[in-house]
Amino acid sequence: MKIGIIGLGFVGLSFAAVLGSKGFSVIGFDNNKKKIEKINSKKPPFFEPKLELFLKKALAKSLEISSDVQKVVKKCDFIFLTVGTPKLKSGHIDLSMLKNASKDIGTSLRYSQKKPIIVVKSTVVPGTTINTIRQIIEKSSGGKNGNGFNIVTNPEFLKEGSAIEDTLNPHLVVIGGLNKKSINRLRSFYQELYGPKIKIMITNPQTAEMIKYANNSFLATKISFINQISSLCQSIPGINIDEIADAIGVDPRIGKQFLKAGPGYGGSCLPKDLSTIIEFSSKIGTNPVLLKAVQQTNDLQIKQIVQLIEKKLKSVKNKRITILGLSFKENTDDVRESRSTELIKTLLRKNSKITVHDPMAMKNMESIFTNKITYANSLSEALENSQCVVIMTPWKVYTKLKNSDFQKMEKKLIVDTRRILSGKNLNAEYLALGLGLN
Ligand code: UGA
Repeated sequence: MKIGIIGLGFVGLSFAAVLGSKGFSVIGFDNNKKKIEKINSKKPPFFEPKLELFLKKALAKSLEISSDVQKVVKKCDFIFLTVGTPKLKSGHIDLSMLKNASKDIGTSLRYSQKKPIIVVKSTVVPGTTINTIRQIIEKSSGGKNGNGFNIVTNPEFLKEGSAIEDTLNPHLVVIGGLNKKSINRLRSFYQELYGPKIKIMITNPQTAEMIKYANNSFLATKISFINQISSLCQSIPGINIDEIADAIGVDPRIGKQFLKAGPGYGGSCLPKDLSTIIEFSSKIGTNPVLLKAVQQTNDLQIKQIVQLIEKKLKSVKNKRITILGLSFKENTDDVRESRSTELIKTLLRKNSKITVHDPMAMKNMESIFTNKITYANSLSEALENSQCVVIMTPWKVYTKLKNSDFQKMEKKLIVDTRRILSGKNLNAEYLALGLGLN
């Protein structure tokens, strides 16, 4: 059994590295030559905990990296499509990479004896696997789904920052297919990978596609819910949002995860998937009022942070403000749709002077803001002469901050959007989202 993986981003490369490390025979494909070079030199093209280790193991065992899609199609029994489906400026989903990959697979199928199972892992709106991807592959291959190839939807639930852990131990595998034989073959593959006890749900492709959006929409809803309660807490002296989250999280009907109030959800998935599903709902004639409110609540978080700063500094114009944490969450260098980006944009519009620090994401941020902001070489440099520091990403290094670290600030004002310093006795003015002001 040979596995092909088309698209070596977070999902594809983590999957390839885990499969290869376990000795599965894998060919990973990407059309970005620079990326291929980097991966072949045993270096992941982005930071992800444990990925380098697993990649090294996989390359030493049974992972081959290629930029030849024909080779993948000729040799592989399963071809996983893991290319990105980002958001266009217009807000629509960008299917161009998926369409191109489908066309390339279809064209290569013309010259191949194999009848592969093509597994769509990329996030796509309901109907895309059948109405778009299948049609493109049928047209370019001259074959028919169920005959020359079989197409199956198999959404992915891994999180950045724990991509390897999640790939090793998924809570569920969803298989959406049209014919029993291909569903059973994919089920057997996953049972071989994860053991017979792995929870597998079988459904049709459009339901599988919708499960992914429902999952991410629910996670975003939980975050916006707790952020809304957090905003309420803000004006009640002495109240603490984390105690509230801990208490309601004990109720098994609610659950404790994704109840951490903060600056809002960012990243390449939740914001994009919310926009896409809202757009899709409107297109089919429903009004997703709840999901729109989730999005609006998320946007309000940044406004609230700015208001907090303005309340203390009167105006932010020409004030030196330090932002700690640029990645959309800890343990990643990914700054896509990071809340810090939104905060910096807002503060720059108000003519603040911004200095930033992040243990991993400085380079990625530099490509967005170039010379409009100052990039500190160290935490102490970031805080020196600052008139306000805003903690945006809960990196471990920031949880260790202590009084002496704030010594050189011109005005000791700390705005902690994740409450990571809330238990400390700080010799500074300390404001935090979700902690009622006294
Ligand atoms: C998300 C989902 O969690 C994954 O299940 C899914 O597979 C993935 O999208 C995807 O569609 O590919 P990810 O974007 O990597 O994963 O990150 P999350 O852990 O979901 O965090 C998203 C944002 O929500 C971050 O900005 C994080 O700081 C924020 N968040 C998360 C909170 O503000 N509070 C919480 O309690 C949890």
